[in-house]
Amino acid sequence: VPERSDRPEAMLATPARGTGGTQPGADAQADLDWAAWHAAYEDPDSVLGRRLALVQAQVRAALDAAPRGPIRAVSVCAGQGHDLIGVLAGHPRREDCSALLVELDARNVALANAAARGAGLDGVRAVAADGSLSDSYLDGVPADLVLVCGVLGNVSAQDALATVGQLPELCAAGATVIWTRHRNPPDLVPQLRERFEQAGFSELASADAPPFWVGVNRLQGAPRPLRRGVRWFRFIGQDALWPHLDTDTRAALSALFRPDCSLVELVEAMRALPVGLPSEPTAQSMLREARGTAADKHRFLAEVIGQRFPQLQPKIVHRVYTLDRARAAELYGDDVAALVPARGLTDVHTYLTLALPLAGAPELARRTLVVDATARGATWDGSSSLPLACGPGEDHPAGADAEQTLRMLVQEHCDPDERAALMSALAGLGRPD
Ligand SMILES: C[S@@+](CC[C@H](N)C(=O)[O-])C[C@H]1O[C@@H](n2cnc3c(N)ncnc32)[C@H](O)[C@@H]1O
Repeated sequence: VPERSDRPEAMLATPARGTGGTQPGADAQADLDWAAWHAAYEDPDSVLGRRLALVQAQVRAALDAAPRGPIRAVSVCAGQGHDLIGVLAGHPRREDCSALLVELDARNVALANAAARGAGLDGVRAVAADGSLSDSYLDGVPADLVLVCGVLGNVSAQDALATVGQLPELCAAGATVIWTRHRNPPDLVPQLRERFEQAGFSELASADAPPFWVGVNRLQGAPRPLRRGVRWFRFIGQDALWPHLDTDTRAALSALFRPDCSLVELVEAMRALPVGLPSEPTAQSMLREARGTAADKHRFLAEVIGQRFPQLQPKIVHRVYTLDRARAAELYGDDVAALVPARGLTDVHTYLTLALPLAGAPELARRTLVVDATARGATWDGSSSLPLACGPGEDHPAGADAEQTLRMLVQEHCDPDERAALMSALAGLGRPD
């Protein structure tokens, strides 16, 4: 069972299509609702909740260590400002601090300003402006504290590195920069740390809270004047998450960011997800790396469909069957197929059943639908069974612990060496790096 932070909804924290609030003409991705994205902060155990706690601890430390006198802060793509406002509200230096929060989404700006007013933080001001443009910071620089959280993972690698190089333009002498970046492959954190050093920053602290890194750097070199009219990055949102995937696949996967996506979109997203063995058997790892086995995909679907459409009573089924070379080639490609002996090998395939209500029939009358989202195919109609990716075999209901049942079936039926070779070949498939 995935641990709490690995639950699919942690990944599905960015619901609903854009409903206004984002200024036209700027980059924020239209199909992401950046106001709703912040809902994940309500759960302190969520991945983002844990990241927020780490960032806030660093904000507190920076305020604690700030020399007497005024403290100026700026936040790049500030969202609702939870990191800064959440700490400042109860900090002894609250009266000394003025802050400029630059955020594109007008709803987030309004919420940040409301939170600041509610906490009596008169010096904190959120503005609806494009945080990728240097001019947006003219009123806030030079700053003693610069927050760049949730930004460097939403821009291209090139822009992320270039933006770090520009940060001395936001900084006062000795300023502290607090930044975050996810560690999804390709992991850019080592290069970003190096870039900070090249840009004249030393590293004060860091925290690794998978999948996020929180970095704290101090400007040791000289600040630089802010150049006007410079664009530092393009905020591309989730496109930055899976740079190795083609546009169609990313488009199909983007449904996973919308908790209101349809059943068909969910299933199609899993079908589009490349086949491969993720580094860890968790939904988080599958989604981060954008690759999964039939077992990963159907475990994920069963959990999400169980939450979103419980009336469909999703059930996982494991089928013991013989994988022959031809099917292995179809599913996994020729290299993996070459590992399959001529007689085939015994494998366990995982799929899902749904109980679909029968139109016009009594409440309890249902028909069972087989859903196999292992591989791409013609778009599912949402009401017919999807063909099984494996051949005929013997079915076993997975029960409450699908992973454990799978392990037992593998142990009972599969040749350990053949299975190990297959798994190791699958681990090489769809690698993002
Ligand atoms: C991942 S969230 C991070 C929010 C906040 N920094 C945090 O860590 O809680 C990214 C934020 O950037 C905002 N954003 C996207 N493009 C932007 C742009 N060009 N200028 C300013 N904000 C932008 C989004 O609206 C969203 O609130």
